[in-house]
Amino acid sequence: MPTDSLTVIDNRTGASYELPIADGAIRAADLRQVKVDGDDFGLMSYDPAFLNTASARSAITYIDGDRGILRYRGYPIDQLAEESTYLEVAYLLIHGELPTIAELRTWSDVITHHTFVHESMKRLMEAFRYDAHPMGMLISSVAALSTFYPEASDVDNAETRMLQAHRLIAKVPTIAAWAYRHNRGVPYVYPENDLGFTGNFLSMMFRMAEPRYSAHPVLERALEVLFILHADHEQNCSANAMRAIGSSRVDPYSALAGAAAALYGPLHGGANEEVLKMLAEIGDVRHVPDYVDRVKAGDFRLMGFGHRVYKNYDPRAKLIKQTADAVFEVTGRNPLLDIALELEKIALEDEYFVSRKLYPNVDFYSGIIYQALGLPVAMFPVMFAIPRTAGWLAQWLEGSVDSEQKIARPRQVYVGAAERAYAAIGDRRAIEVTSG
Ligand SMILES: CC(C)(COP(=O)(O)OP(=O)(O)OC[C@H]1O[C@@H](n2cnc3c(N)ncnc32)[C@H](O)[C@@H]1OP(=O)(O)O)[C@@H](O)C(=O)NCCC(=O)NCCS
Repeated sequence: MPTDSLTVIDNRTGASYELPIADGAIRAADLRQVKVDGDDFGLMSYDPAFLNTASARSAITYIDGDRGILRYRGYPIDQLAEESTYLEVAYLLIHGELPTIAELRTWSDVITHHTFVHESMKRLMEAFRYDAHPMGMLISSVAALSTFYPEASDVDNAETRMLQAHRLIAKVPTIAAWAYRHNRGVPYVYPENDLGFTGNFLSMMFRMAEPRYSAHPVLERALEVLFILHADHEQNCSANAMRAIGSSRVDPYSALAGAAAALYGPLHGGANEEVLKMLAEIGDVRHVPDYVDRVKAGDFRLMGFGHRVYKNYDPRAKLIKQTADAVFEVTGRNPLLDIALELEKIALEDEYFVSRKLYPNVDFYSGIIYQALGLPVAMFPVMFAIPRTAGWLAQWLEGSVDSEQKIARPRQVYVGAAERAYAAIGDRRAIEVTSG
């Protein structure tokens, strides 16, 4: 009779162990009973980069990477992208259900009324160098927010936690837009409470002398879709950072600054910046085959291709491609699109990419759209961080009340020197110092 357990035989001792299987997983802590003798610490599982380790039980986002499925709280991403607004999706991620009309009204009202930041935040941001990278400004400014809300450190209080979630979802776009304005050397624009979430963001980004900025409805909707697609992605590098930092019970501003820092890296949220640089470097459709050859030779990676989880076409990439078409109808065609399309065509037919299941990911087209919207590449990771704020917070809120969670603290396999006697400086081996 099949049972939900795993029998482990330790060939060092001949002992046999029965490990329960629940939800397709064994508990790594159950391996600790596997010991050679009483002094043995117990067996560990070694899993660099968490390739096969579940660190949380989560009800937020479901991904089936082999089948290219992404769902938030059970809803397929394409339906959300087609039917919803970003604020509805943020509510869904945080609260677990799509809002009713009344709930959405209250939620929109609450978020709208938290969009302003303290004037000292403005002065703090103004103190950055004129050419400061907007992502560095965002990370530091979000961390600085914790100093304005000292009560946020009361992370055991559900009401306090939710208040900070409202503030963060509302204020990150303001900070993001100001980081952009700073970089451009133009005055910061205050939020407009009668605009929607993306409309207000575009106003804070692009308003100049006009008394009121009205974004093109197609571009506003495109941004809404991009925000929905980027809102969460289960236990990715930055969500893991958010949970790990939050597990120390620090306030969510500090944790979110850490998550945003993780997002900044070129292998994560910085990838669309790299995609644009790559497309510009290729420069012409005719150079694509040569470039692909160099990727295959191992000279560098094709940016915007491949994903740790998706071993199929990233479902978000499909939706982004459609959004790109709508945006280019308004802005005119981004010449880099032709290079991207050719790159995708060649790569999808090539044995190197097919055998490694390397498909375009969400970053492959998002950068081209952001560029068409008039954004500099340095803003791309910032554009990712705005909607991901809801996902980070949903992950943090879930982790905060998970009674199984403790401070995140992985084990290590120590491979360093065994104990040795301290060597006085004159007795140490000479290290060859080479110059040049
Ligand atoms: C996303 C990424 C980090 C996932 O990496 P991963 O799951 O650890 O996959 P691996 O690094 O183990 O790669 C597996 C194989 O595919 C190759 N590969 C992975 N991504 C590649 C890429 N973008 N271009 C060329 N080859 C790639 C690796 O060289 C490796 O080949 P090998 O088996 O011959 O050594 C990786 O695909 C990547 O660097 N992509 C480019 C950056 C990017 O777009 N990031 C955005 C993620 S949303």
